[in-house]
Amino acid sequence: MIRLVAPKNIVMTPLIRVIIHHPNLMRSKVFLQAMKIFPQKLSGSYDARMRANQSEYQELLVQGMALIDTLPKTIIDIGTGTGIAAFAAAKVFPEAYILGIDHSDGMIAHAMEKLDQANTGRISFTQGNACDLLYDDQSFDLVVSSNAPIYLDEATRVLKFGGHLMVAFSFAFTAFTRVEADIMNMLKPYGVELLHLKGQGKGVVIIGKKHDASPAWETKTEDPCGG
Ligand SMILES: C[S@@+](CC[C@H](N)C(=O)[O-])C[C@H]1O[C@@H](n2cnc3c(N)ncnc32)[C@H](O)[C@@H]1O
Repeated sequence: MIRLVAPKNIVMTPLIRVIIHHPNLMRSKVFLQAMKIFPQKLSGSYDARMRANQSEYQELLVQGMALIDTLPKTIIDIGTGTGIAAFAAAKVFPEAYILGIDHSDGMIAHAMEKLDQANTGRISFTQGNACDLLYDDQSFDLVVSSNAPIYLDEATRVLKFGGHLMVAFSFAFTAFTRVEADIMNMLKPYGVELLHLKGQGKGVVIIGKKHDASPAWETKTEDPCGG
């Protein structure tokens, strides 16, 4: 029987597979440079661009976080942009302190503008680089990455044992379900067990739990961002 595949998935599934199997592509000069230039350029219009499917995606983030069976007190949202996942985390976990980091100061400025409205006193934003986090090993109960490149060695290094990793994308849900086994195998070397891969609309949320130590954290190179 011939299985019909949505045209976007014809591109996205192999692309996601390539990134899963060659994560160092995200440390290449071209990729890092693009990630510095484009988000900075888009920061002023990012929220307006996202608005079309923002409420559906926000709902997915909230539902994904609700699957976490602990009450994290310390949360980092890596590649926070204008803070969509950080603000969602503040709603779901009313006792948590949330730090959003992004290397675009434009994005951080726009995230900070929304702090007054959220009025929680539990969210802060700062500039930082996802491939070279300035935080100690095991600093956070929950590490979140939403629509952003994820550097698993760093994301899982700063995650406490027993803590959760949540990775979400507002697109390509079915492409991610196709590579679920690859995702499970990608997380394993970092001591992270895949707990959930949940989709809604176009989006997907992936949740893992860190159990074991990983040798990957010991081998931090001098220039972890590849530049
Ligand atoms: C598409 S935006 C997503 C923003 C937000 N998390 C969301 O869900 O709307 C990707 C963000 O990742 C950030 N980013 C990309 N590479 C990064 C890195 N190495 N360190 C920190 N932030 C990074 C970009 O600056 C950008 O703000």
